[in-house]
Amino acid sequence: MQWTTARIRAAKGQQKLACLTAYDYATATLIDGAGVPLTLVGDSLAMAMLGYTTTLPVTMEEMLHHTAAVVRGVTQSLVVADMPFLSYQVSLEQGLANAGRFIKEAGADAVKVEGGAFRAPLVEALNQNGIPVLGHIGLTPQSIKQVGGYKVQGRAPEQVTQLLADAAALEAAGCFALVLECVPEPVGRQLTAAAGIPTIGIGAGRYCDGQILVTHDMLGLHSHLTPRFAKRYAELGATMTAAFDAYKDEVEAGTFPSDEHAY
Ligand code: KIV
Repeated sequence: MQWTTARIRAAKGQQKLACLTAYDYATATLIDGAGVPLTLVGDSLAMAMLGYTTTLPVTMEEMLHHTAAVVRGVTQSLVVADMPFLSYQVSLEQGLANAGRFIKEAGADAVKVEGGAFRAPLVEALNQNGIPVLGHIGLTPQSIKQVGGYKVQGRAPEQVTQLLADAAALEAAGCFALVLECVPEPVGRQLTAAAGIPTIGIGAGRYCDGQILVTHDMLGLHSHLTPRFAKRYAELGATMTAAFDAYKDEVEAGTFPSDEHAY
């Protein structure tokens, strides 16, 4: 059965939502086949696929290109496109026009924007024009230059008060769910209890309504260290390296192709 934003909302308190990122057709088909309810074409594309050190450089055109590939691989999962840095911050008009491109040109089901209560007017404008929005608070990587690093947010009481106000404002503006990134587990729990919409945690502890991981992290595709919250469910980087080494050895030794691979 097709996942819709209404079905994601209705899952709160009923079913934990196991969400993942995808950036290409092949991975999207596998994620969709596993029954994952929400597939995010994250701007983590910048780092996972394009080799940048932050999410900031990825462009609208790159995000559209990868979102369209993911949409082609999915039959049931809700596809959310992450709006890249400066595609929605300049003006409501530009935010609306760029969000519309993800729906119209790439076939996404919804968009994600980073930011708290100050983002409510954009969320309202998108909703009023038929574009569902996933909010994103806590650590917001598009503000990394201002935040000063990938640090846990919401440790101070005044930050928790602000996060609660942000979550309430984004829900009132019409977000169908909220990503909570890198907040202490008790804060994730408090935000989840206070919100009427599902919270989807990444480094936000056990009590969120759902979880999301960057697929490259959970598959062990990186050689560099992954963050503490990113459990590695596989070591595909090591598996791929072994395959590349074996192929190279066999070609060099003349044992590939053998009879069975030749016409
Ligand atoms: O870009 C991304 O992958 C994200 C997730 C970490 C939520 O925003």
